[in-house]
Amino acid sequence: MDYQKVLTELEDLVLETYSLWDHNRIGFQWRHYTWNHTKRVRAMGMELGRKVGGDVKKLELAGTLHDITKKYDGEILTDKEGKRVTSSQGFWLNEKLKPSQQNVVTELYDRYDLYNTVHHDSGAVITEKILVDFGFDTDFVEAVRSIVFAHLKPINITDDDFKILYKNIENQILYDADTMDPNIGYTAFFRNIHIHAHFAIQRNGKFELQGYVEGLPKFVDSKDSFVNHLLTDVAREVAANRQTRSRNLVTEMNQELENLEINRKYGLLGVIEYFVSEVEDPDFAYQLNYLQNEWIPQRQKQLTNGNLSSAERDDAQAAIDRVTTFTNDLEAEYKGLI
Ligand SMILES: [Fe+2]
Ligand SMILES: [Fe+2]
Repeated sequence: MDYQKVLTELEDLVLETYSLWDHNRIGFQWRHYTWNHTKRVRAMGMELGRKVGGDVKKLELAGTLHDITKKYDGEILTDKEGKRVTSSQGFWLNEKLKPSQQNVVTELYDRYDLYNTVHHDSGAVITEKILVDFGFDTDFVEAVRSIVFAHLKPINITDDDFKILYKNIENQILYDADTMDPNIGYTAFFRNIHIHAHFAIQRNGKFELQGYVEGLPKFVDSKDSFVNHLLTDVAREVAANRQTRSRNLVTEMNQELENLEINRKYGLLGVIEYFVSEVEDPDFAYQLNYLQNEWIPQRQKQLTNGNLSSAERDDAQAAIDRVTTFTNDLEAEYKGLI
């Protein structure tokens, strides 16, 4: 088997599957989000796997496939009192959205009648069927299937069930990578800003920079509890470092408010405004690349050619340097390195 070829085919299949629904944004997800998240979780899973001697290939395939049925999820169901409806295992239940086009994944979903399952469960079924078709051996398929199945954890899981579900270190690792990505680190900040901007614009017609930045320390604090609930020591270490880095970042952003004019143009505040310039379907990979290859070089040029006083120039250069550090760290997180 040509593993790289298979991996590429699986990536194409996941991307194709994500494109079968017409809607863009549901709740906290938008079209580009799911694929960017998938790539980040996969990269982090593989890096954590390398650190503890886990099976990186299993993590790579499970990371690629773990949210393959995520697009079926619509709005979270609520009861008459507005409380979220949960399954017997404590998972929030979603309205199910049907795709407007079909492929092999949606055909399997229909054939195995997965409409009443949560996406880690349906994703595990689809993963198993697809990997068998690609000719992977039975033990390998079972291992990858169980990683995908374990990427969500039942709320009140018993100790015995926990031991079964998370017997393999890879199962713990993908759970940790998937939990970290939307909650902890710059990846979580990127998600938060786009969620916040989307709802702010819906509600008030505009995004308010100062109020948003002032609320950020609270946002970071609210994620502390996630760190201790991760399953592996390696992930807890990464997450603690991410929390520290995020705290420093939001402190810098608040300090930037004292020199709005320079920092909206050259600094982290300018980055926030750049991020929210695209609200419909923001693309993490594109925006990161744009910052590094267009946004920063353009400002460096303006700084050199502009007619700022020397004090202003120093401030602007320091602001650009903060953005450079931010984008380097954002890229490293994207690759699962930090
Ligand atoms: Fe998921
Ligand atoms: Fe996920």
